[in-house]
Amino acid sequence: MDRLLIRGGVPLRGKIQVNGSKNACLPIIASTLLTRDTTIIEEVPDLLDVRTMIAVLEGLGAAVDYRQEQGLLRINSGDLSKTALPADLVGRMRASFLVLGPLLARKKVVRLPLPGGCAIGTRPVDLHLKGLAAMGAQFSIANGCVEGITGGLQGARIYLDFPSVGATENIIMAATLARGTTILENAATEPEIVDLANCLNSMRAQVVGAGTARIRIEGVSRLGGTRHAIIPDRIEAGTLLLAGVITGGDLTVEHVLPDHLKSLLAKMTEAGAFVEEVGPTAIRAAANGRTAAVDLKTMPYPGFSTDLQPQFMTLLALSGGTSMVIETVFENRFRHIESLNRMGAQIQVEGRHAIVQGRPYLTGAPVVAPDLRGAAALLLAALAARGETELFAVHHLWRGHSRLEERLSLLGAQIERVAEEPEGAIKTGS
Ligand code: EPZ
Repeated sequence: MDRLLIRGGVPLRGKIQVNGSKNACLPIIASTLLTRDTTIIEEVPDLLDVRTMIAVLEGLGAAVDYRQEQGLLRINSGDLSKTALPADLVGRMRASFLVLGPLLARKKVVRLPLPGGCAIGTRPVDLHLKGLAAMGAQFSIANGCVEGITGGLQGARIYLDFPSVGATENIIMAATLARGTTILENAATEPEIVDLANCLNSMRAQVVGAGTARIRIEGVSRLGGTRHAIIPDRIEAGTLLLAGVITGGDLTVEHVLPDHLKSLLAKMTEAGAFVEEVGPTAIRAAANGRTAAVDLKTMPYPGFSTDLQPQFMTLLALSGGTSMVIETVFENRFRHIESLNRMGAQIQVEGRHAIVQGRPYLTGAPVVAPDLRGAAALLLAALAARGETELFAVHHLWRGHSRLEERLSLLGAQIERVAEEPEGAIKTGS
């Protein structure tokens, strides 16, 4: 397992580009199963999760040509030979469950291992199944798998008990080929949903209202191919902006849509950081003395993103005063706290509440990344800390960020990726 060696205390300065969005790219790759024609996707980030999704599609029989240097993906799902996926593939990444809707709509049958829980929560899929069942799918669950079958999906009126991102995406994709009209209410409104709908509409689907809580989809008999560029990754952008402030630096993050980060920018400003939009696709963030404590509550979009909670908590661990962080979306998303406390932070947890007592500084230590966003939080802590940090289990980071250590080094970070010694290698020196 590779690790990162990070020597902290260097203010990050300069400009950095954001890659395409992981959470927009994954459902859009799944949506190509809805058409027999070729789809070309641009701005594809070179991530572990993207490669897993490509393996999922190839496992179903799709022809995939991935040019990672150019961020270009060409997919043709004309001849899908399979409608079932092996557990190890789905087990690697929950988002592979996003093929459920497209396969049911296109092939009328599907068999998928239930994704099960992950580090941040139990993460059930009841809302996905309930929505698709309302459209006429019949599901049976046995041996850890869900089997779905339909004589042909029908439009339906669906109200989501919670604005789940994944359930919204699966239902929209299925409804594009269903007979009649689907009205989806209390839908998720994340920018990634809008990007998916824009891509589907360029494939000649009829999705109206994406980005609002009420989405209307007129089913069509066939979708075509398209060429679509993925939106910038707002979570990567937020992580980088926080890295600039937490290290006492000054960063301009480019290829970002400021509108997608309103709640983060408001919280950073409230904490006293300097934040400024420099043009339609760039944001500058700089330290402005020690940040102040602020309270934070994660919510579905446009509320504060749960995917930025761990990184923001690292900033609060170094802020003046006491902050309260409430995690409302996932029940187990505080796993980075134990390591932050190992680095000298003072954070107490009570269920979904964390009380963060700001400290003047953190110190480097060996820590293990618990999940993707927890890894990012520990990386930020290490960049700000006194001394050296060894960050283990960095494979979590590569799920959502490409070549991050190289890109941060260009901004002044003292960071080195150390490959694990192969089994039985002679260890030299102490
Ligand atoms: C998406 O996950 C993102 N993943 C997550 O990002 C993100 O944290 C999450 O949305 C919330 O914004 C991708 O887009 C690939 P949900 P998803 O369905 O779709 C409950 C990252 O770090 N729920 O909106 O799985 C669920 O348990 C990842 O990039 C049900 O109860 O999230 C959770 O508590 C992590 N039943 C809440 O809803 C269901 O059927 C939100 O889940 C579905 C969800």
